[in-house]
Amino acid sequence: MTARTIAPATGRLGVLTPGMGAVASTFIAGVIAARKGLKPPIGSVSQMANIRLGTREEGRNPLIREFVPLADLNDLVFGGWDPLSANVLEAAETAGVLDSTDLASISNELEAIVPMDAVFDRRWVSKLDGVRVKKIESKWDQAMALIDDIARFKAENDCDRLVMVWCGSTEAYQEPSDCHATVASFEQGLRDNDANISPSQIYAYAALQSDVPYANGAPNLTVDLDCMIELSKSRGVPIAGKDFKTGQTLMKTMLAPGFKARMLGLRGWYSTNILGNRDGEVLDDPENFKSKEVSKLGVLDAILQPEVYPDLYGNIDHVVRINYYPPRGDNKEGWDAIDIFGWLGYPMQIKVDFMCRDSILAAPIVLDLALFMDLAARAGASGVQEWLSFYLKAPQAAGATPAEHDLFIQQTKLKNTLREWMGEQPVTHSEAG
Ligand SMILES: NC(=O)c1ccc[n+]([C@@H]2O[C@H](COP(=O)([O-])OP(=O)(O)OC[C@H]3O[C@@H](n4cnc5c(N)ncnc54)[C@H](O)[C@@H]3O)[C@@H](O)[C@H]2O)c1
Repeated sequence: MTARTIAPATGRLGVLTPGMGAVASTFIAGVIAARKGLKPPIGSVSQMANIRLGTREEGRNPLIREFVPLADLNDLVFGGWDPLSANVLEAAETAGVLDSTDLASISNELEAIVPMDAVFDRRWVSKLDGVRVKKIESKWDQAMALIDDIARFKAENDCDRLVMVWCGSTEAYQEPSDCHATVASFEQGLRDNDANISPSQIYAYAALQSDVPYANGAPNLTVDLDCMIELSKSRGVPIAGKDFKTGQTLMKTMLAPGFKARMLGLRGWYSTNILGNRDGEVLDDPENFKSKEVSKLGVLDAILQPEVYPDLYGNIDHVVRINYYPPRGDNKEGWDAIDIFGWLGYPMQIKVDFMCRDSILAAPIVLDLALFMDLAARAGASGVQEWLSFYLKAPQAAGATPAEHDLFIQQTKLKNTLREWMGEQPVTHSEAG
């Protein structure tokens, strides 16, 4: 197998996050703590996982970060935009994810990271009232202002390369419209202030026009749109979306493949969540929840293939609820009541009660997406990076076939892609290998 030519990860990598709330501040704090040697980056596959190379007998099993040329944590620089957060320390304190002792040792670094004024529109996030917002009416001019921000950040921070990961609030649900069909129609829409263009799309446009890879951590359409796919290909820039796979959906994509592997039937899956962070407050609005619901519901059908197994998975009641419940803060509780059936159709029940910490699960995903998107750019990859579907709740497909949701197939795809890029054989786990 011939290795790809991958440019080395020299110099500094700027990680820009539109949205500097709970997830972004937890991510930044964790990276700074890791590089000071205070805490290990637990949950980050790029930092902690090994990768087997060749046959088992060869005993080659390096860390991923020693195998592929990823940017070093010491070379990361952080920036972004937010309509509310004054700086990343304030954002972390508001989010309440990390305790004050953990924040105290890195508070100077966090306080020094000040978000730029956001492109923000309450029409898309009705629960928030932005104050640190660009006072520019025209969407075209907003895009140009973001392009200027990106260039200025890169120059001021002496960055060699940049990546952008959307960590902003979930926007209200929308279907693609005419302005999203092509790059030309989108640009016309920007000039016409088309009401169908949301802030996240303006950030994505600005990123891609600046040759900055864009990954989408929320369920907004953003880079799923035809115009953005066209732009990413024409500019040769990687994109990946959408919606970080954490908490309940992570569990779902671990459990459902197991039921299917053993040919156990599924009659219903009732999922409910209570959470009390700002994300929960935004999702309390039905229009914003709809975006999340659509992204969460697709998972089971994609894994269980009811069209192939109608007797086992042809009649599933799948319900997802999220309730805003302030006492829980970021410590979401996700309950699943799962009704399965086995031999002769006898029913069984499984209950999962996951007392999780949303941003603790999301932060390592931001890191891995940033590092792998940068790797993809240096490896000359452009368009949808389906191999990163491992991290995403509603992964985008690179071609006509829908993307995989099964976490274990996604993991194999990720690792085999890295092996192939580095000129190693894929690992098949067959009896021979
Ligand atoms: N935490 C998780 O496990 C998880 C999982 C999947 C997806 N997500 C998504 O990640 C996103 C961030 O989650 P969070 O918990 O950090 O939420 P958060 O509310 O703490 O942070 C989001 C931030 O985005 C800002 N924002 C809103 N609109 C913006 C705009 N137009 N430009 C720039 N900033 C903007 C808000 O002011 C806020 O500070 C949400 O969309 C959430 O649904 C989170």
